Amino acid sequence: MRAVVTGGAGFIGSALVERLLAEGDAVEVVDDLSTGSLARLAGARAAGGSFRFHQLDVAEPELAVLLARRRPEVVFHLAMPTSVAAAAVAPAADARAVLVGGLAVLEACRAAGVGKVVVVTSAAGLLALRPDEAGAPLAERAADASRAPGGPARRALLDELAAFRERDGLEYTALCLGTVYGPAQLETGADGAVARFARALAAGEPATLEGGGTATRDFVFVDDVVDALARAKARGTGLLVNVGTGVETSARALWELMAGLAGNDPGWRVAPGRPGAPSRVCLDASRAAIHLGWRPWTRLEDGAAAVLAAARSLAATPGPAAGAHREGEPTAAAAPGAVR
Ligand SMILES: NC(=O)c1ccc[n+]([C@@H]2O[C@H](COP(=O)([O-])OP(=O)(O)OC[C@H]3O[C@@H](n4cnc5c(N)ncnc54)[C@H](O)[C@@H]3O)[C@@H](O)[C@H]2O)c1
Repeated sequence: MRAVVTGGAGFIGSALVERLLAEGDAVEVVDDLSTGSLARLAGARAAGGSFRFHQLDVAEPELAVLLARRRPEVVFHLAMPTSVAAAAVAPAADARAVLVGGLAVLEACRAAGVGKVVVVTSAAGLLALRPDEAGAPLAERAADASRAPGGPARRALLDELAAFRERDGLEYTALCLGTVYGPAQLETGADGAVARFARALAAGEPATLEGGGTATRDFVFVDDVVDALARAKARGTGLLVNVGTGVETSARALWELMAGLAGNDPGWRVAPGRPGAPSRVCLDASRAAIHLGWRPWTRLEDGAAAVLAAARSLAATPGPAAGAHREGEPTAAAAPGAVR
């Protein structure tokens, strides 16, 4: 297949690109490098398949030109803000990136006669639970009622996907992701709780638990997410599909798990919670099992152990400190969604 991956120089996108190349697809990456980096594509370049990179914002008209020339069968759209908490602070910027960027991709796909678009969206925006709410894990239909920051804009994009399918025959699958983690998150200074805790443990430092670490997430390993994306090339058409484990883990429980794996516990300190960050996320992935033949293969213990091993090996490597800021890449402080 000919595939285009927007956001392909990011954490999840670069892993997807390697998977598609391994499956024999010809892959073009479109990425503006706002949070991604070319270094993440070293594996794809080394893979030796048919691969090209285009530095481009998806909202630019050149995207339509590119798709019309390449005529991909499938477009994976991952070029979006990684944190819905940023939507609480700057909803206009979030909606512009999600909705205007998403519509630009759909327009370009329609004009180029693309067969299918696979879009990722965020459980923290669409399927967050209140602290005392019953009914977890949540199925996809609960997304209809989301009032979480970033939720309405993401729902509007889902409506547009359905409208493009009905009017123009552009097929889609939208994958609603839990909190994705993996060793490659360590390569930049930013990011989620698993990477931060692994870095702290490798350095023998205490963790910082925002809001006391009571908020829960559905942590899902990046390779499993990539597997769901790859399956969605040919399956799950016309659906929103949850990609999570159905297991709810608080930041504090995650720290305890990882400190146990590390064999030392430097302790933790409490920081204020971030406004807009959801209290609980837990996904029912039954639809993914039925329509994609997918299930989460990686247990949190095993995935977290892999991140911890990578953090230790980075900490033991001479040169720039593990997770150090590299020129041209955002710092954790600069990225509003640094903690997911
Ligand atoms: N990581 C998670 O836990 C998580 C959870 C839920 C959903 N998601 C979604 O998955 C996608 C990828 O997340 P990630 O963790 O790999 O983030 P990432 O920041 O590593 O990747 C996003 C990539 O998109 C690029 N990009 C952003 N805006 C762009 C634009 N307008 N034009 C072209 N390129 C652009 C960035 O440079 C980056 O390479 C995002 O859409 C995010 O919302 C991620």
